[in-house]
Amino acid sequence: MDIKGKIYKDFLDRIDRFKTQNGPQQIKNQHNKGKLHARERIELLFDKNSFEELDAFVTSATPDTGFGKIDAAFGDGVVIGHGKVNGRLVYVYAQDFNVMGGSLGAVHAKKIMKVQELALRVGAPIIGLIDSGGARIQEGVASLSGYASIFHNNVHSSGVIPQISVILGPAAGGAVYSPALTDFIFMTKNTSYMFVTGPDVVKEVLNEEVTFDELGGAEAHARKSGVANFIYEDEENTILGVKKLLSFFPSNNLENPPFIEPKTKKDVFIEKLRTIVPDDPNKPYDVKKVIELTVDQDSFFEVSEQFAPNLVIGFARLDGKAIGIIANQPKVLAGVIDINSSLKGARFVRFCDAFNIPLLTLEDVPGFLPGLDQEHNGIIKHGAKLLFAFSEATVPKITVILRKAYGGAFCVLNSKNIGGDYNFAWPTAEIAVMGPEGAVSILYKRELQKSDDPKKLKKEFASKYRQEVANPYIADEKGYIDEVIDPADTRKKLIIAFETLENKHVDNPSRKHGNMPL
Ligand code: HXC
Repeated sequence: MDIKGKIYKDFLDRIDRFKTQNGPQQIKNQHNKGKLHARERIELLFDKNSFEELDAFVTSATPDTGFGKIDAAFGDGVVIGHGKVNGRLVYVYAQDFNVMGGSLGAVHAKKIMKVQELALRVGAPIIGLIDSGGARIQEGVASLSGYASIFHNNVHSSGVIPQISVILGPAAGGAVYSPALTDFIFMTKNTSYMFVTGPDVVKEVLNEEVTFDELGGAEAHARKSGVANFIYEDEENTILGVKKLLSFFPSNNLENPPFIEPKTKKDVFIEKLRTIVPDDPNKPYDVKKVIELTVDQDSFFEVSEQFAPNLVIGFARLDGKAIGIIANQPKVLAGVIDINSSLKGARFVRFCDAFNIPLLTLEDVPGFLPGLDQEHNGIIKHGAKLLFAFSEATVPKITVILRKAYGGAFCVLNSKNIGGDYNFAWPTAEIAVMGPEGAVSILYKRELQKSDDPKKLKKEFASKYRQEVANPYIADEKGYIDEVIDPADTRKKLIIAFETLENKHVDNPSRKHGNMPL
């Protein structure tokens, strides 16, 4: 039958209306704000012609409340569906700011819940492309209820399928809590912001003047709050970042991450690693160099780069297999563990553990950051989160001690006693209860007090301590680590060690859940 025949008139009329609602004007509205249209974003995310839309023709079911008009546009302000990202199934919802500011009413919420539930049922990642004024004011409690159901679904899916939120416009009010419950948050600079209460409320309640950007822009959340894990200059690069991140993940918690053949075959003997740690133990170096030399060429993808940079975390590949890396950064605060780095590390370890991504710890840590500020803000409970996360993780776990491994930090950073499968140390490793200066001040207090030149004597004692106590061979001989290795062999040792752990299986006692020190 001719598609243009009378019987198809209604069908074709609806398609025309649909096209008009997603036409050049709507695209221009977004471009004028420096943003892309929801459909342009979807096109960037998915492999060509792989997107299949669901519920394109649903409309708001809410009758006019008499307070503000309700737009009966097809789709109710959110595009949902599924497609392929690098050949693998992914679900999406993308809010359309053209329809009542992308605000969330009952039908809009039901659509998001539909893809959340489908993604969970089939075991595929879900991505939220968020550009919304929050709860739709006209729909009142129905909007709030919709948000609550979305939050509930987020929690149900946590640890089962990867969930990623991409903030590409406003995310205001309680609307920020769905992203906060997901695994990773991306933001685009200048056009996206997230806050619980906006600048007007801040002014009213606290009499403080802040701009949208200062309060909840991408930079603020990447550097200060740590809420945003990745920020980019524009939407194209933000979405490319999402695709790159997905390449490290399995589709769900029952699968392993995909193998990706390294583009360049890398030698396993890397002589440069022998000279990275400086002779002077107090001199910094960049641990990212160690990472880059060790993992597959260009495979390192850093997470939360700007937040707590004294701890570097990120994904990489070793001989094509995904790993998660946690590394102290001697270049920043000497790589010390503080509250923010504990939170950053703990959350990352838990994500990797949930999704079968083996963990590599590169350790060079002088200890926990001392002081009133840290103690009063709870370094005890926050540091315990990192300890808890490493202890409970059952994925393959390997540590390489590059230099300092002092005090509690030695225990926390995946020591053998909390389940490290293989713990290696470079000859430059210093393993002891505390650093030389602190130890000498306690053990030789009297001698130092009596000395004519206490500074010189302390230096001598410290050097003796470093040689005789804080060396890796004592730990090696007593079995607290597995082996002191030549740094040049690190890549080879890690590839072999992770390979032996591929079928690792740990049976933990049955329980509802542990009680992490939140
Ligand atoms: C209904 C909304 C809306 C909302 C925006 N619009 N937000 N409609 N409910 N929440 C509509 C506007 O009326 C307007 O419609 C269109 O979207 C575009 O909005 P503008 O204000 O013209 O755009 P812009 O200048 O870019 O400003 C965007 C904005 C602003 C900053 C997001 O609209 C705004 O402040 N909205 C409210 C944000 C907020 O406070 N949300 C929190 C709600 S409470 P017309 O017809 O003129 O085009 C919440 C609690 C959830 O979310 C709790 C869950 C537990």
